Amino acid sequence: MTHFAKASAPGKIHLIGEHSSVYGKPAILCAINKRVVVVLKRTAKDNFFKDDKIAREAVISIRSYIKEKYKVKNIPVWIDVTSTIPVGRGLGSSASLSAAISQAFFSLYRINAGPDEVFNAAYAGEKIFHGNPSGGDLAVCVYGGVIWFRKETENIKLIKKIKVDPSTFKNVLLVDSGKPVESTREMVVDIVGKKEVGKFLIAQEKLTKEVSDSLINNKQKLLRESIVSSGKNLEKLGVVGKQAQKIIFDLSNLGDSAKVSGAGGFKEGSGIILVFCKNISRTKKYCKEPENPLEFMEFKLESKGVIIEK
Ligand code: MEV
Repeated sequence: MTHFAKASAPGKIHLIGEHSSVYGKPAILCAINKRVVVVLKRTAKDNFFKDDKIAREAVISIRSYIKEKYKVKNIPVWIDVTSTIPVGRGLGSSASLSAAISQAFFSLYRINAGPDEVFNAAYAGEKIFHGNPSGGDLAVCVYGGVIWFRKETENIKLIKKIKVDPSTFKNVLLVDSGKPVESTREMVVDIVGKKEVGKFLIAQEKLTKEVSDSLINNKQKLLRESIVSSGKNLEKLGVVGKQAQKIIFDLSNLGDSAKVSGAGGFKEGSGIILVFCKNISRTKKYCKEPENPLEFMEFKLESKGVIIEK
């Protein structure tokens, strides 16, 4: 009998397609080299996330999916989580947690699930975290790499890997505009019924196709232009706060191409801003200016999605 299981999953950035993916439009997401690591141990009684009701329910949902589908008994667990993914910044911390928990449960149950099943079980958790997720965050955390994602129906999700020239992300920084006070769930609910949504969806789909073309055919200029336009559309939709708008404006004056990546936030911070820098040293200098100062980080693309750890 297995008493212990360990799994990890990467965080993500949205190149494009946040919010529109909830409405069945495509998104392009990249897994990044920041990971969450989950350890499950069998115990007599469940012992996890005592102070976090949503996370606790998400775990129970993931385990229930496995129990019902595979007709296995309940295994009470103790859970330990370590992570290098900043929480609540649009970097996929909850999707990555759902993915790693799902894989760890499958290992504990000794079920050799492929990524599709890890996704399906984890998706039950994602719905607890986010209410009505597209599944895009989770898809990239499960499969890794750079993906084209589209939610066709609740049960059919198109996930296609895109091969990207590694030099594409050589001068890209993630700049933190501050933690949003709104959750992803609240941000998604907030745009429901807004009159701008129709136009937004059409524009983002067109830009997402341009981004895929620019990645596949290494068109750097088109990539930067599409990124900036998609960010402006997010601003018009009202998911980008004043603080983040100012940073994006300042960075554009340095010749950078920047947009919010993820659900955003409008009252205070809007989470991570993805910045294709013209001159990375100058952008770092801007972030360090005493009147700003802004946290930033570099990253690499991560080809590995969810994995079983020893
Ligand atoms: C959040 O990272 C991305 C959103 O599009 C929500 C989703 O896709 O589920 C805002």
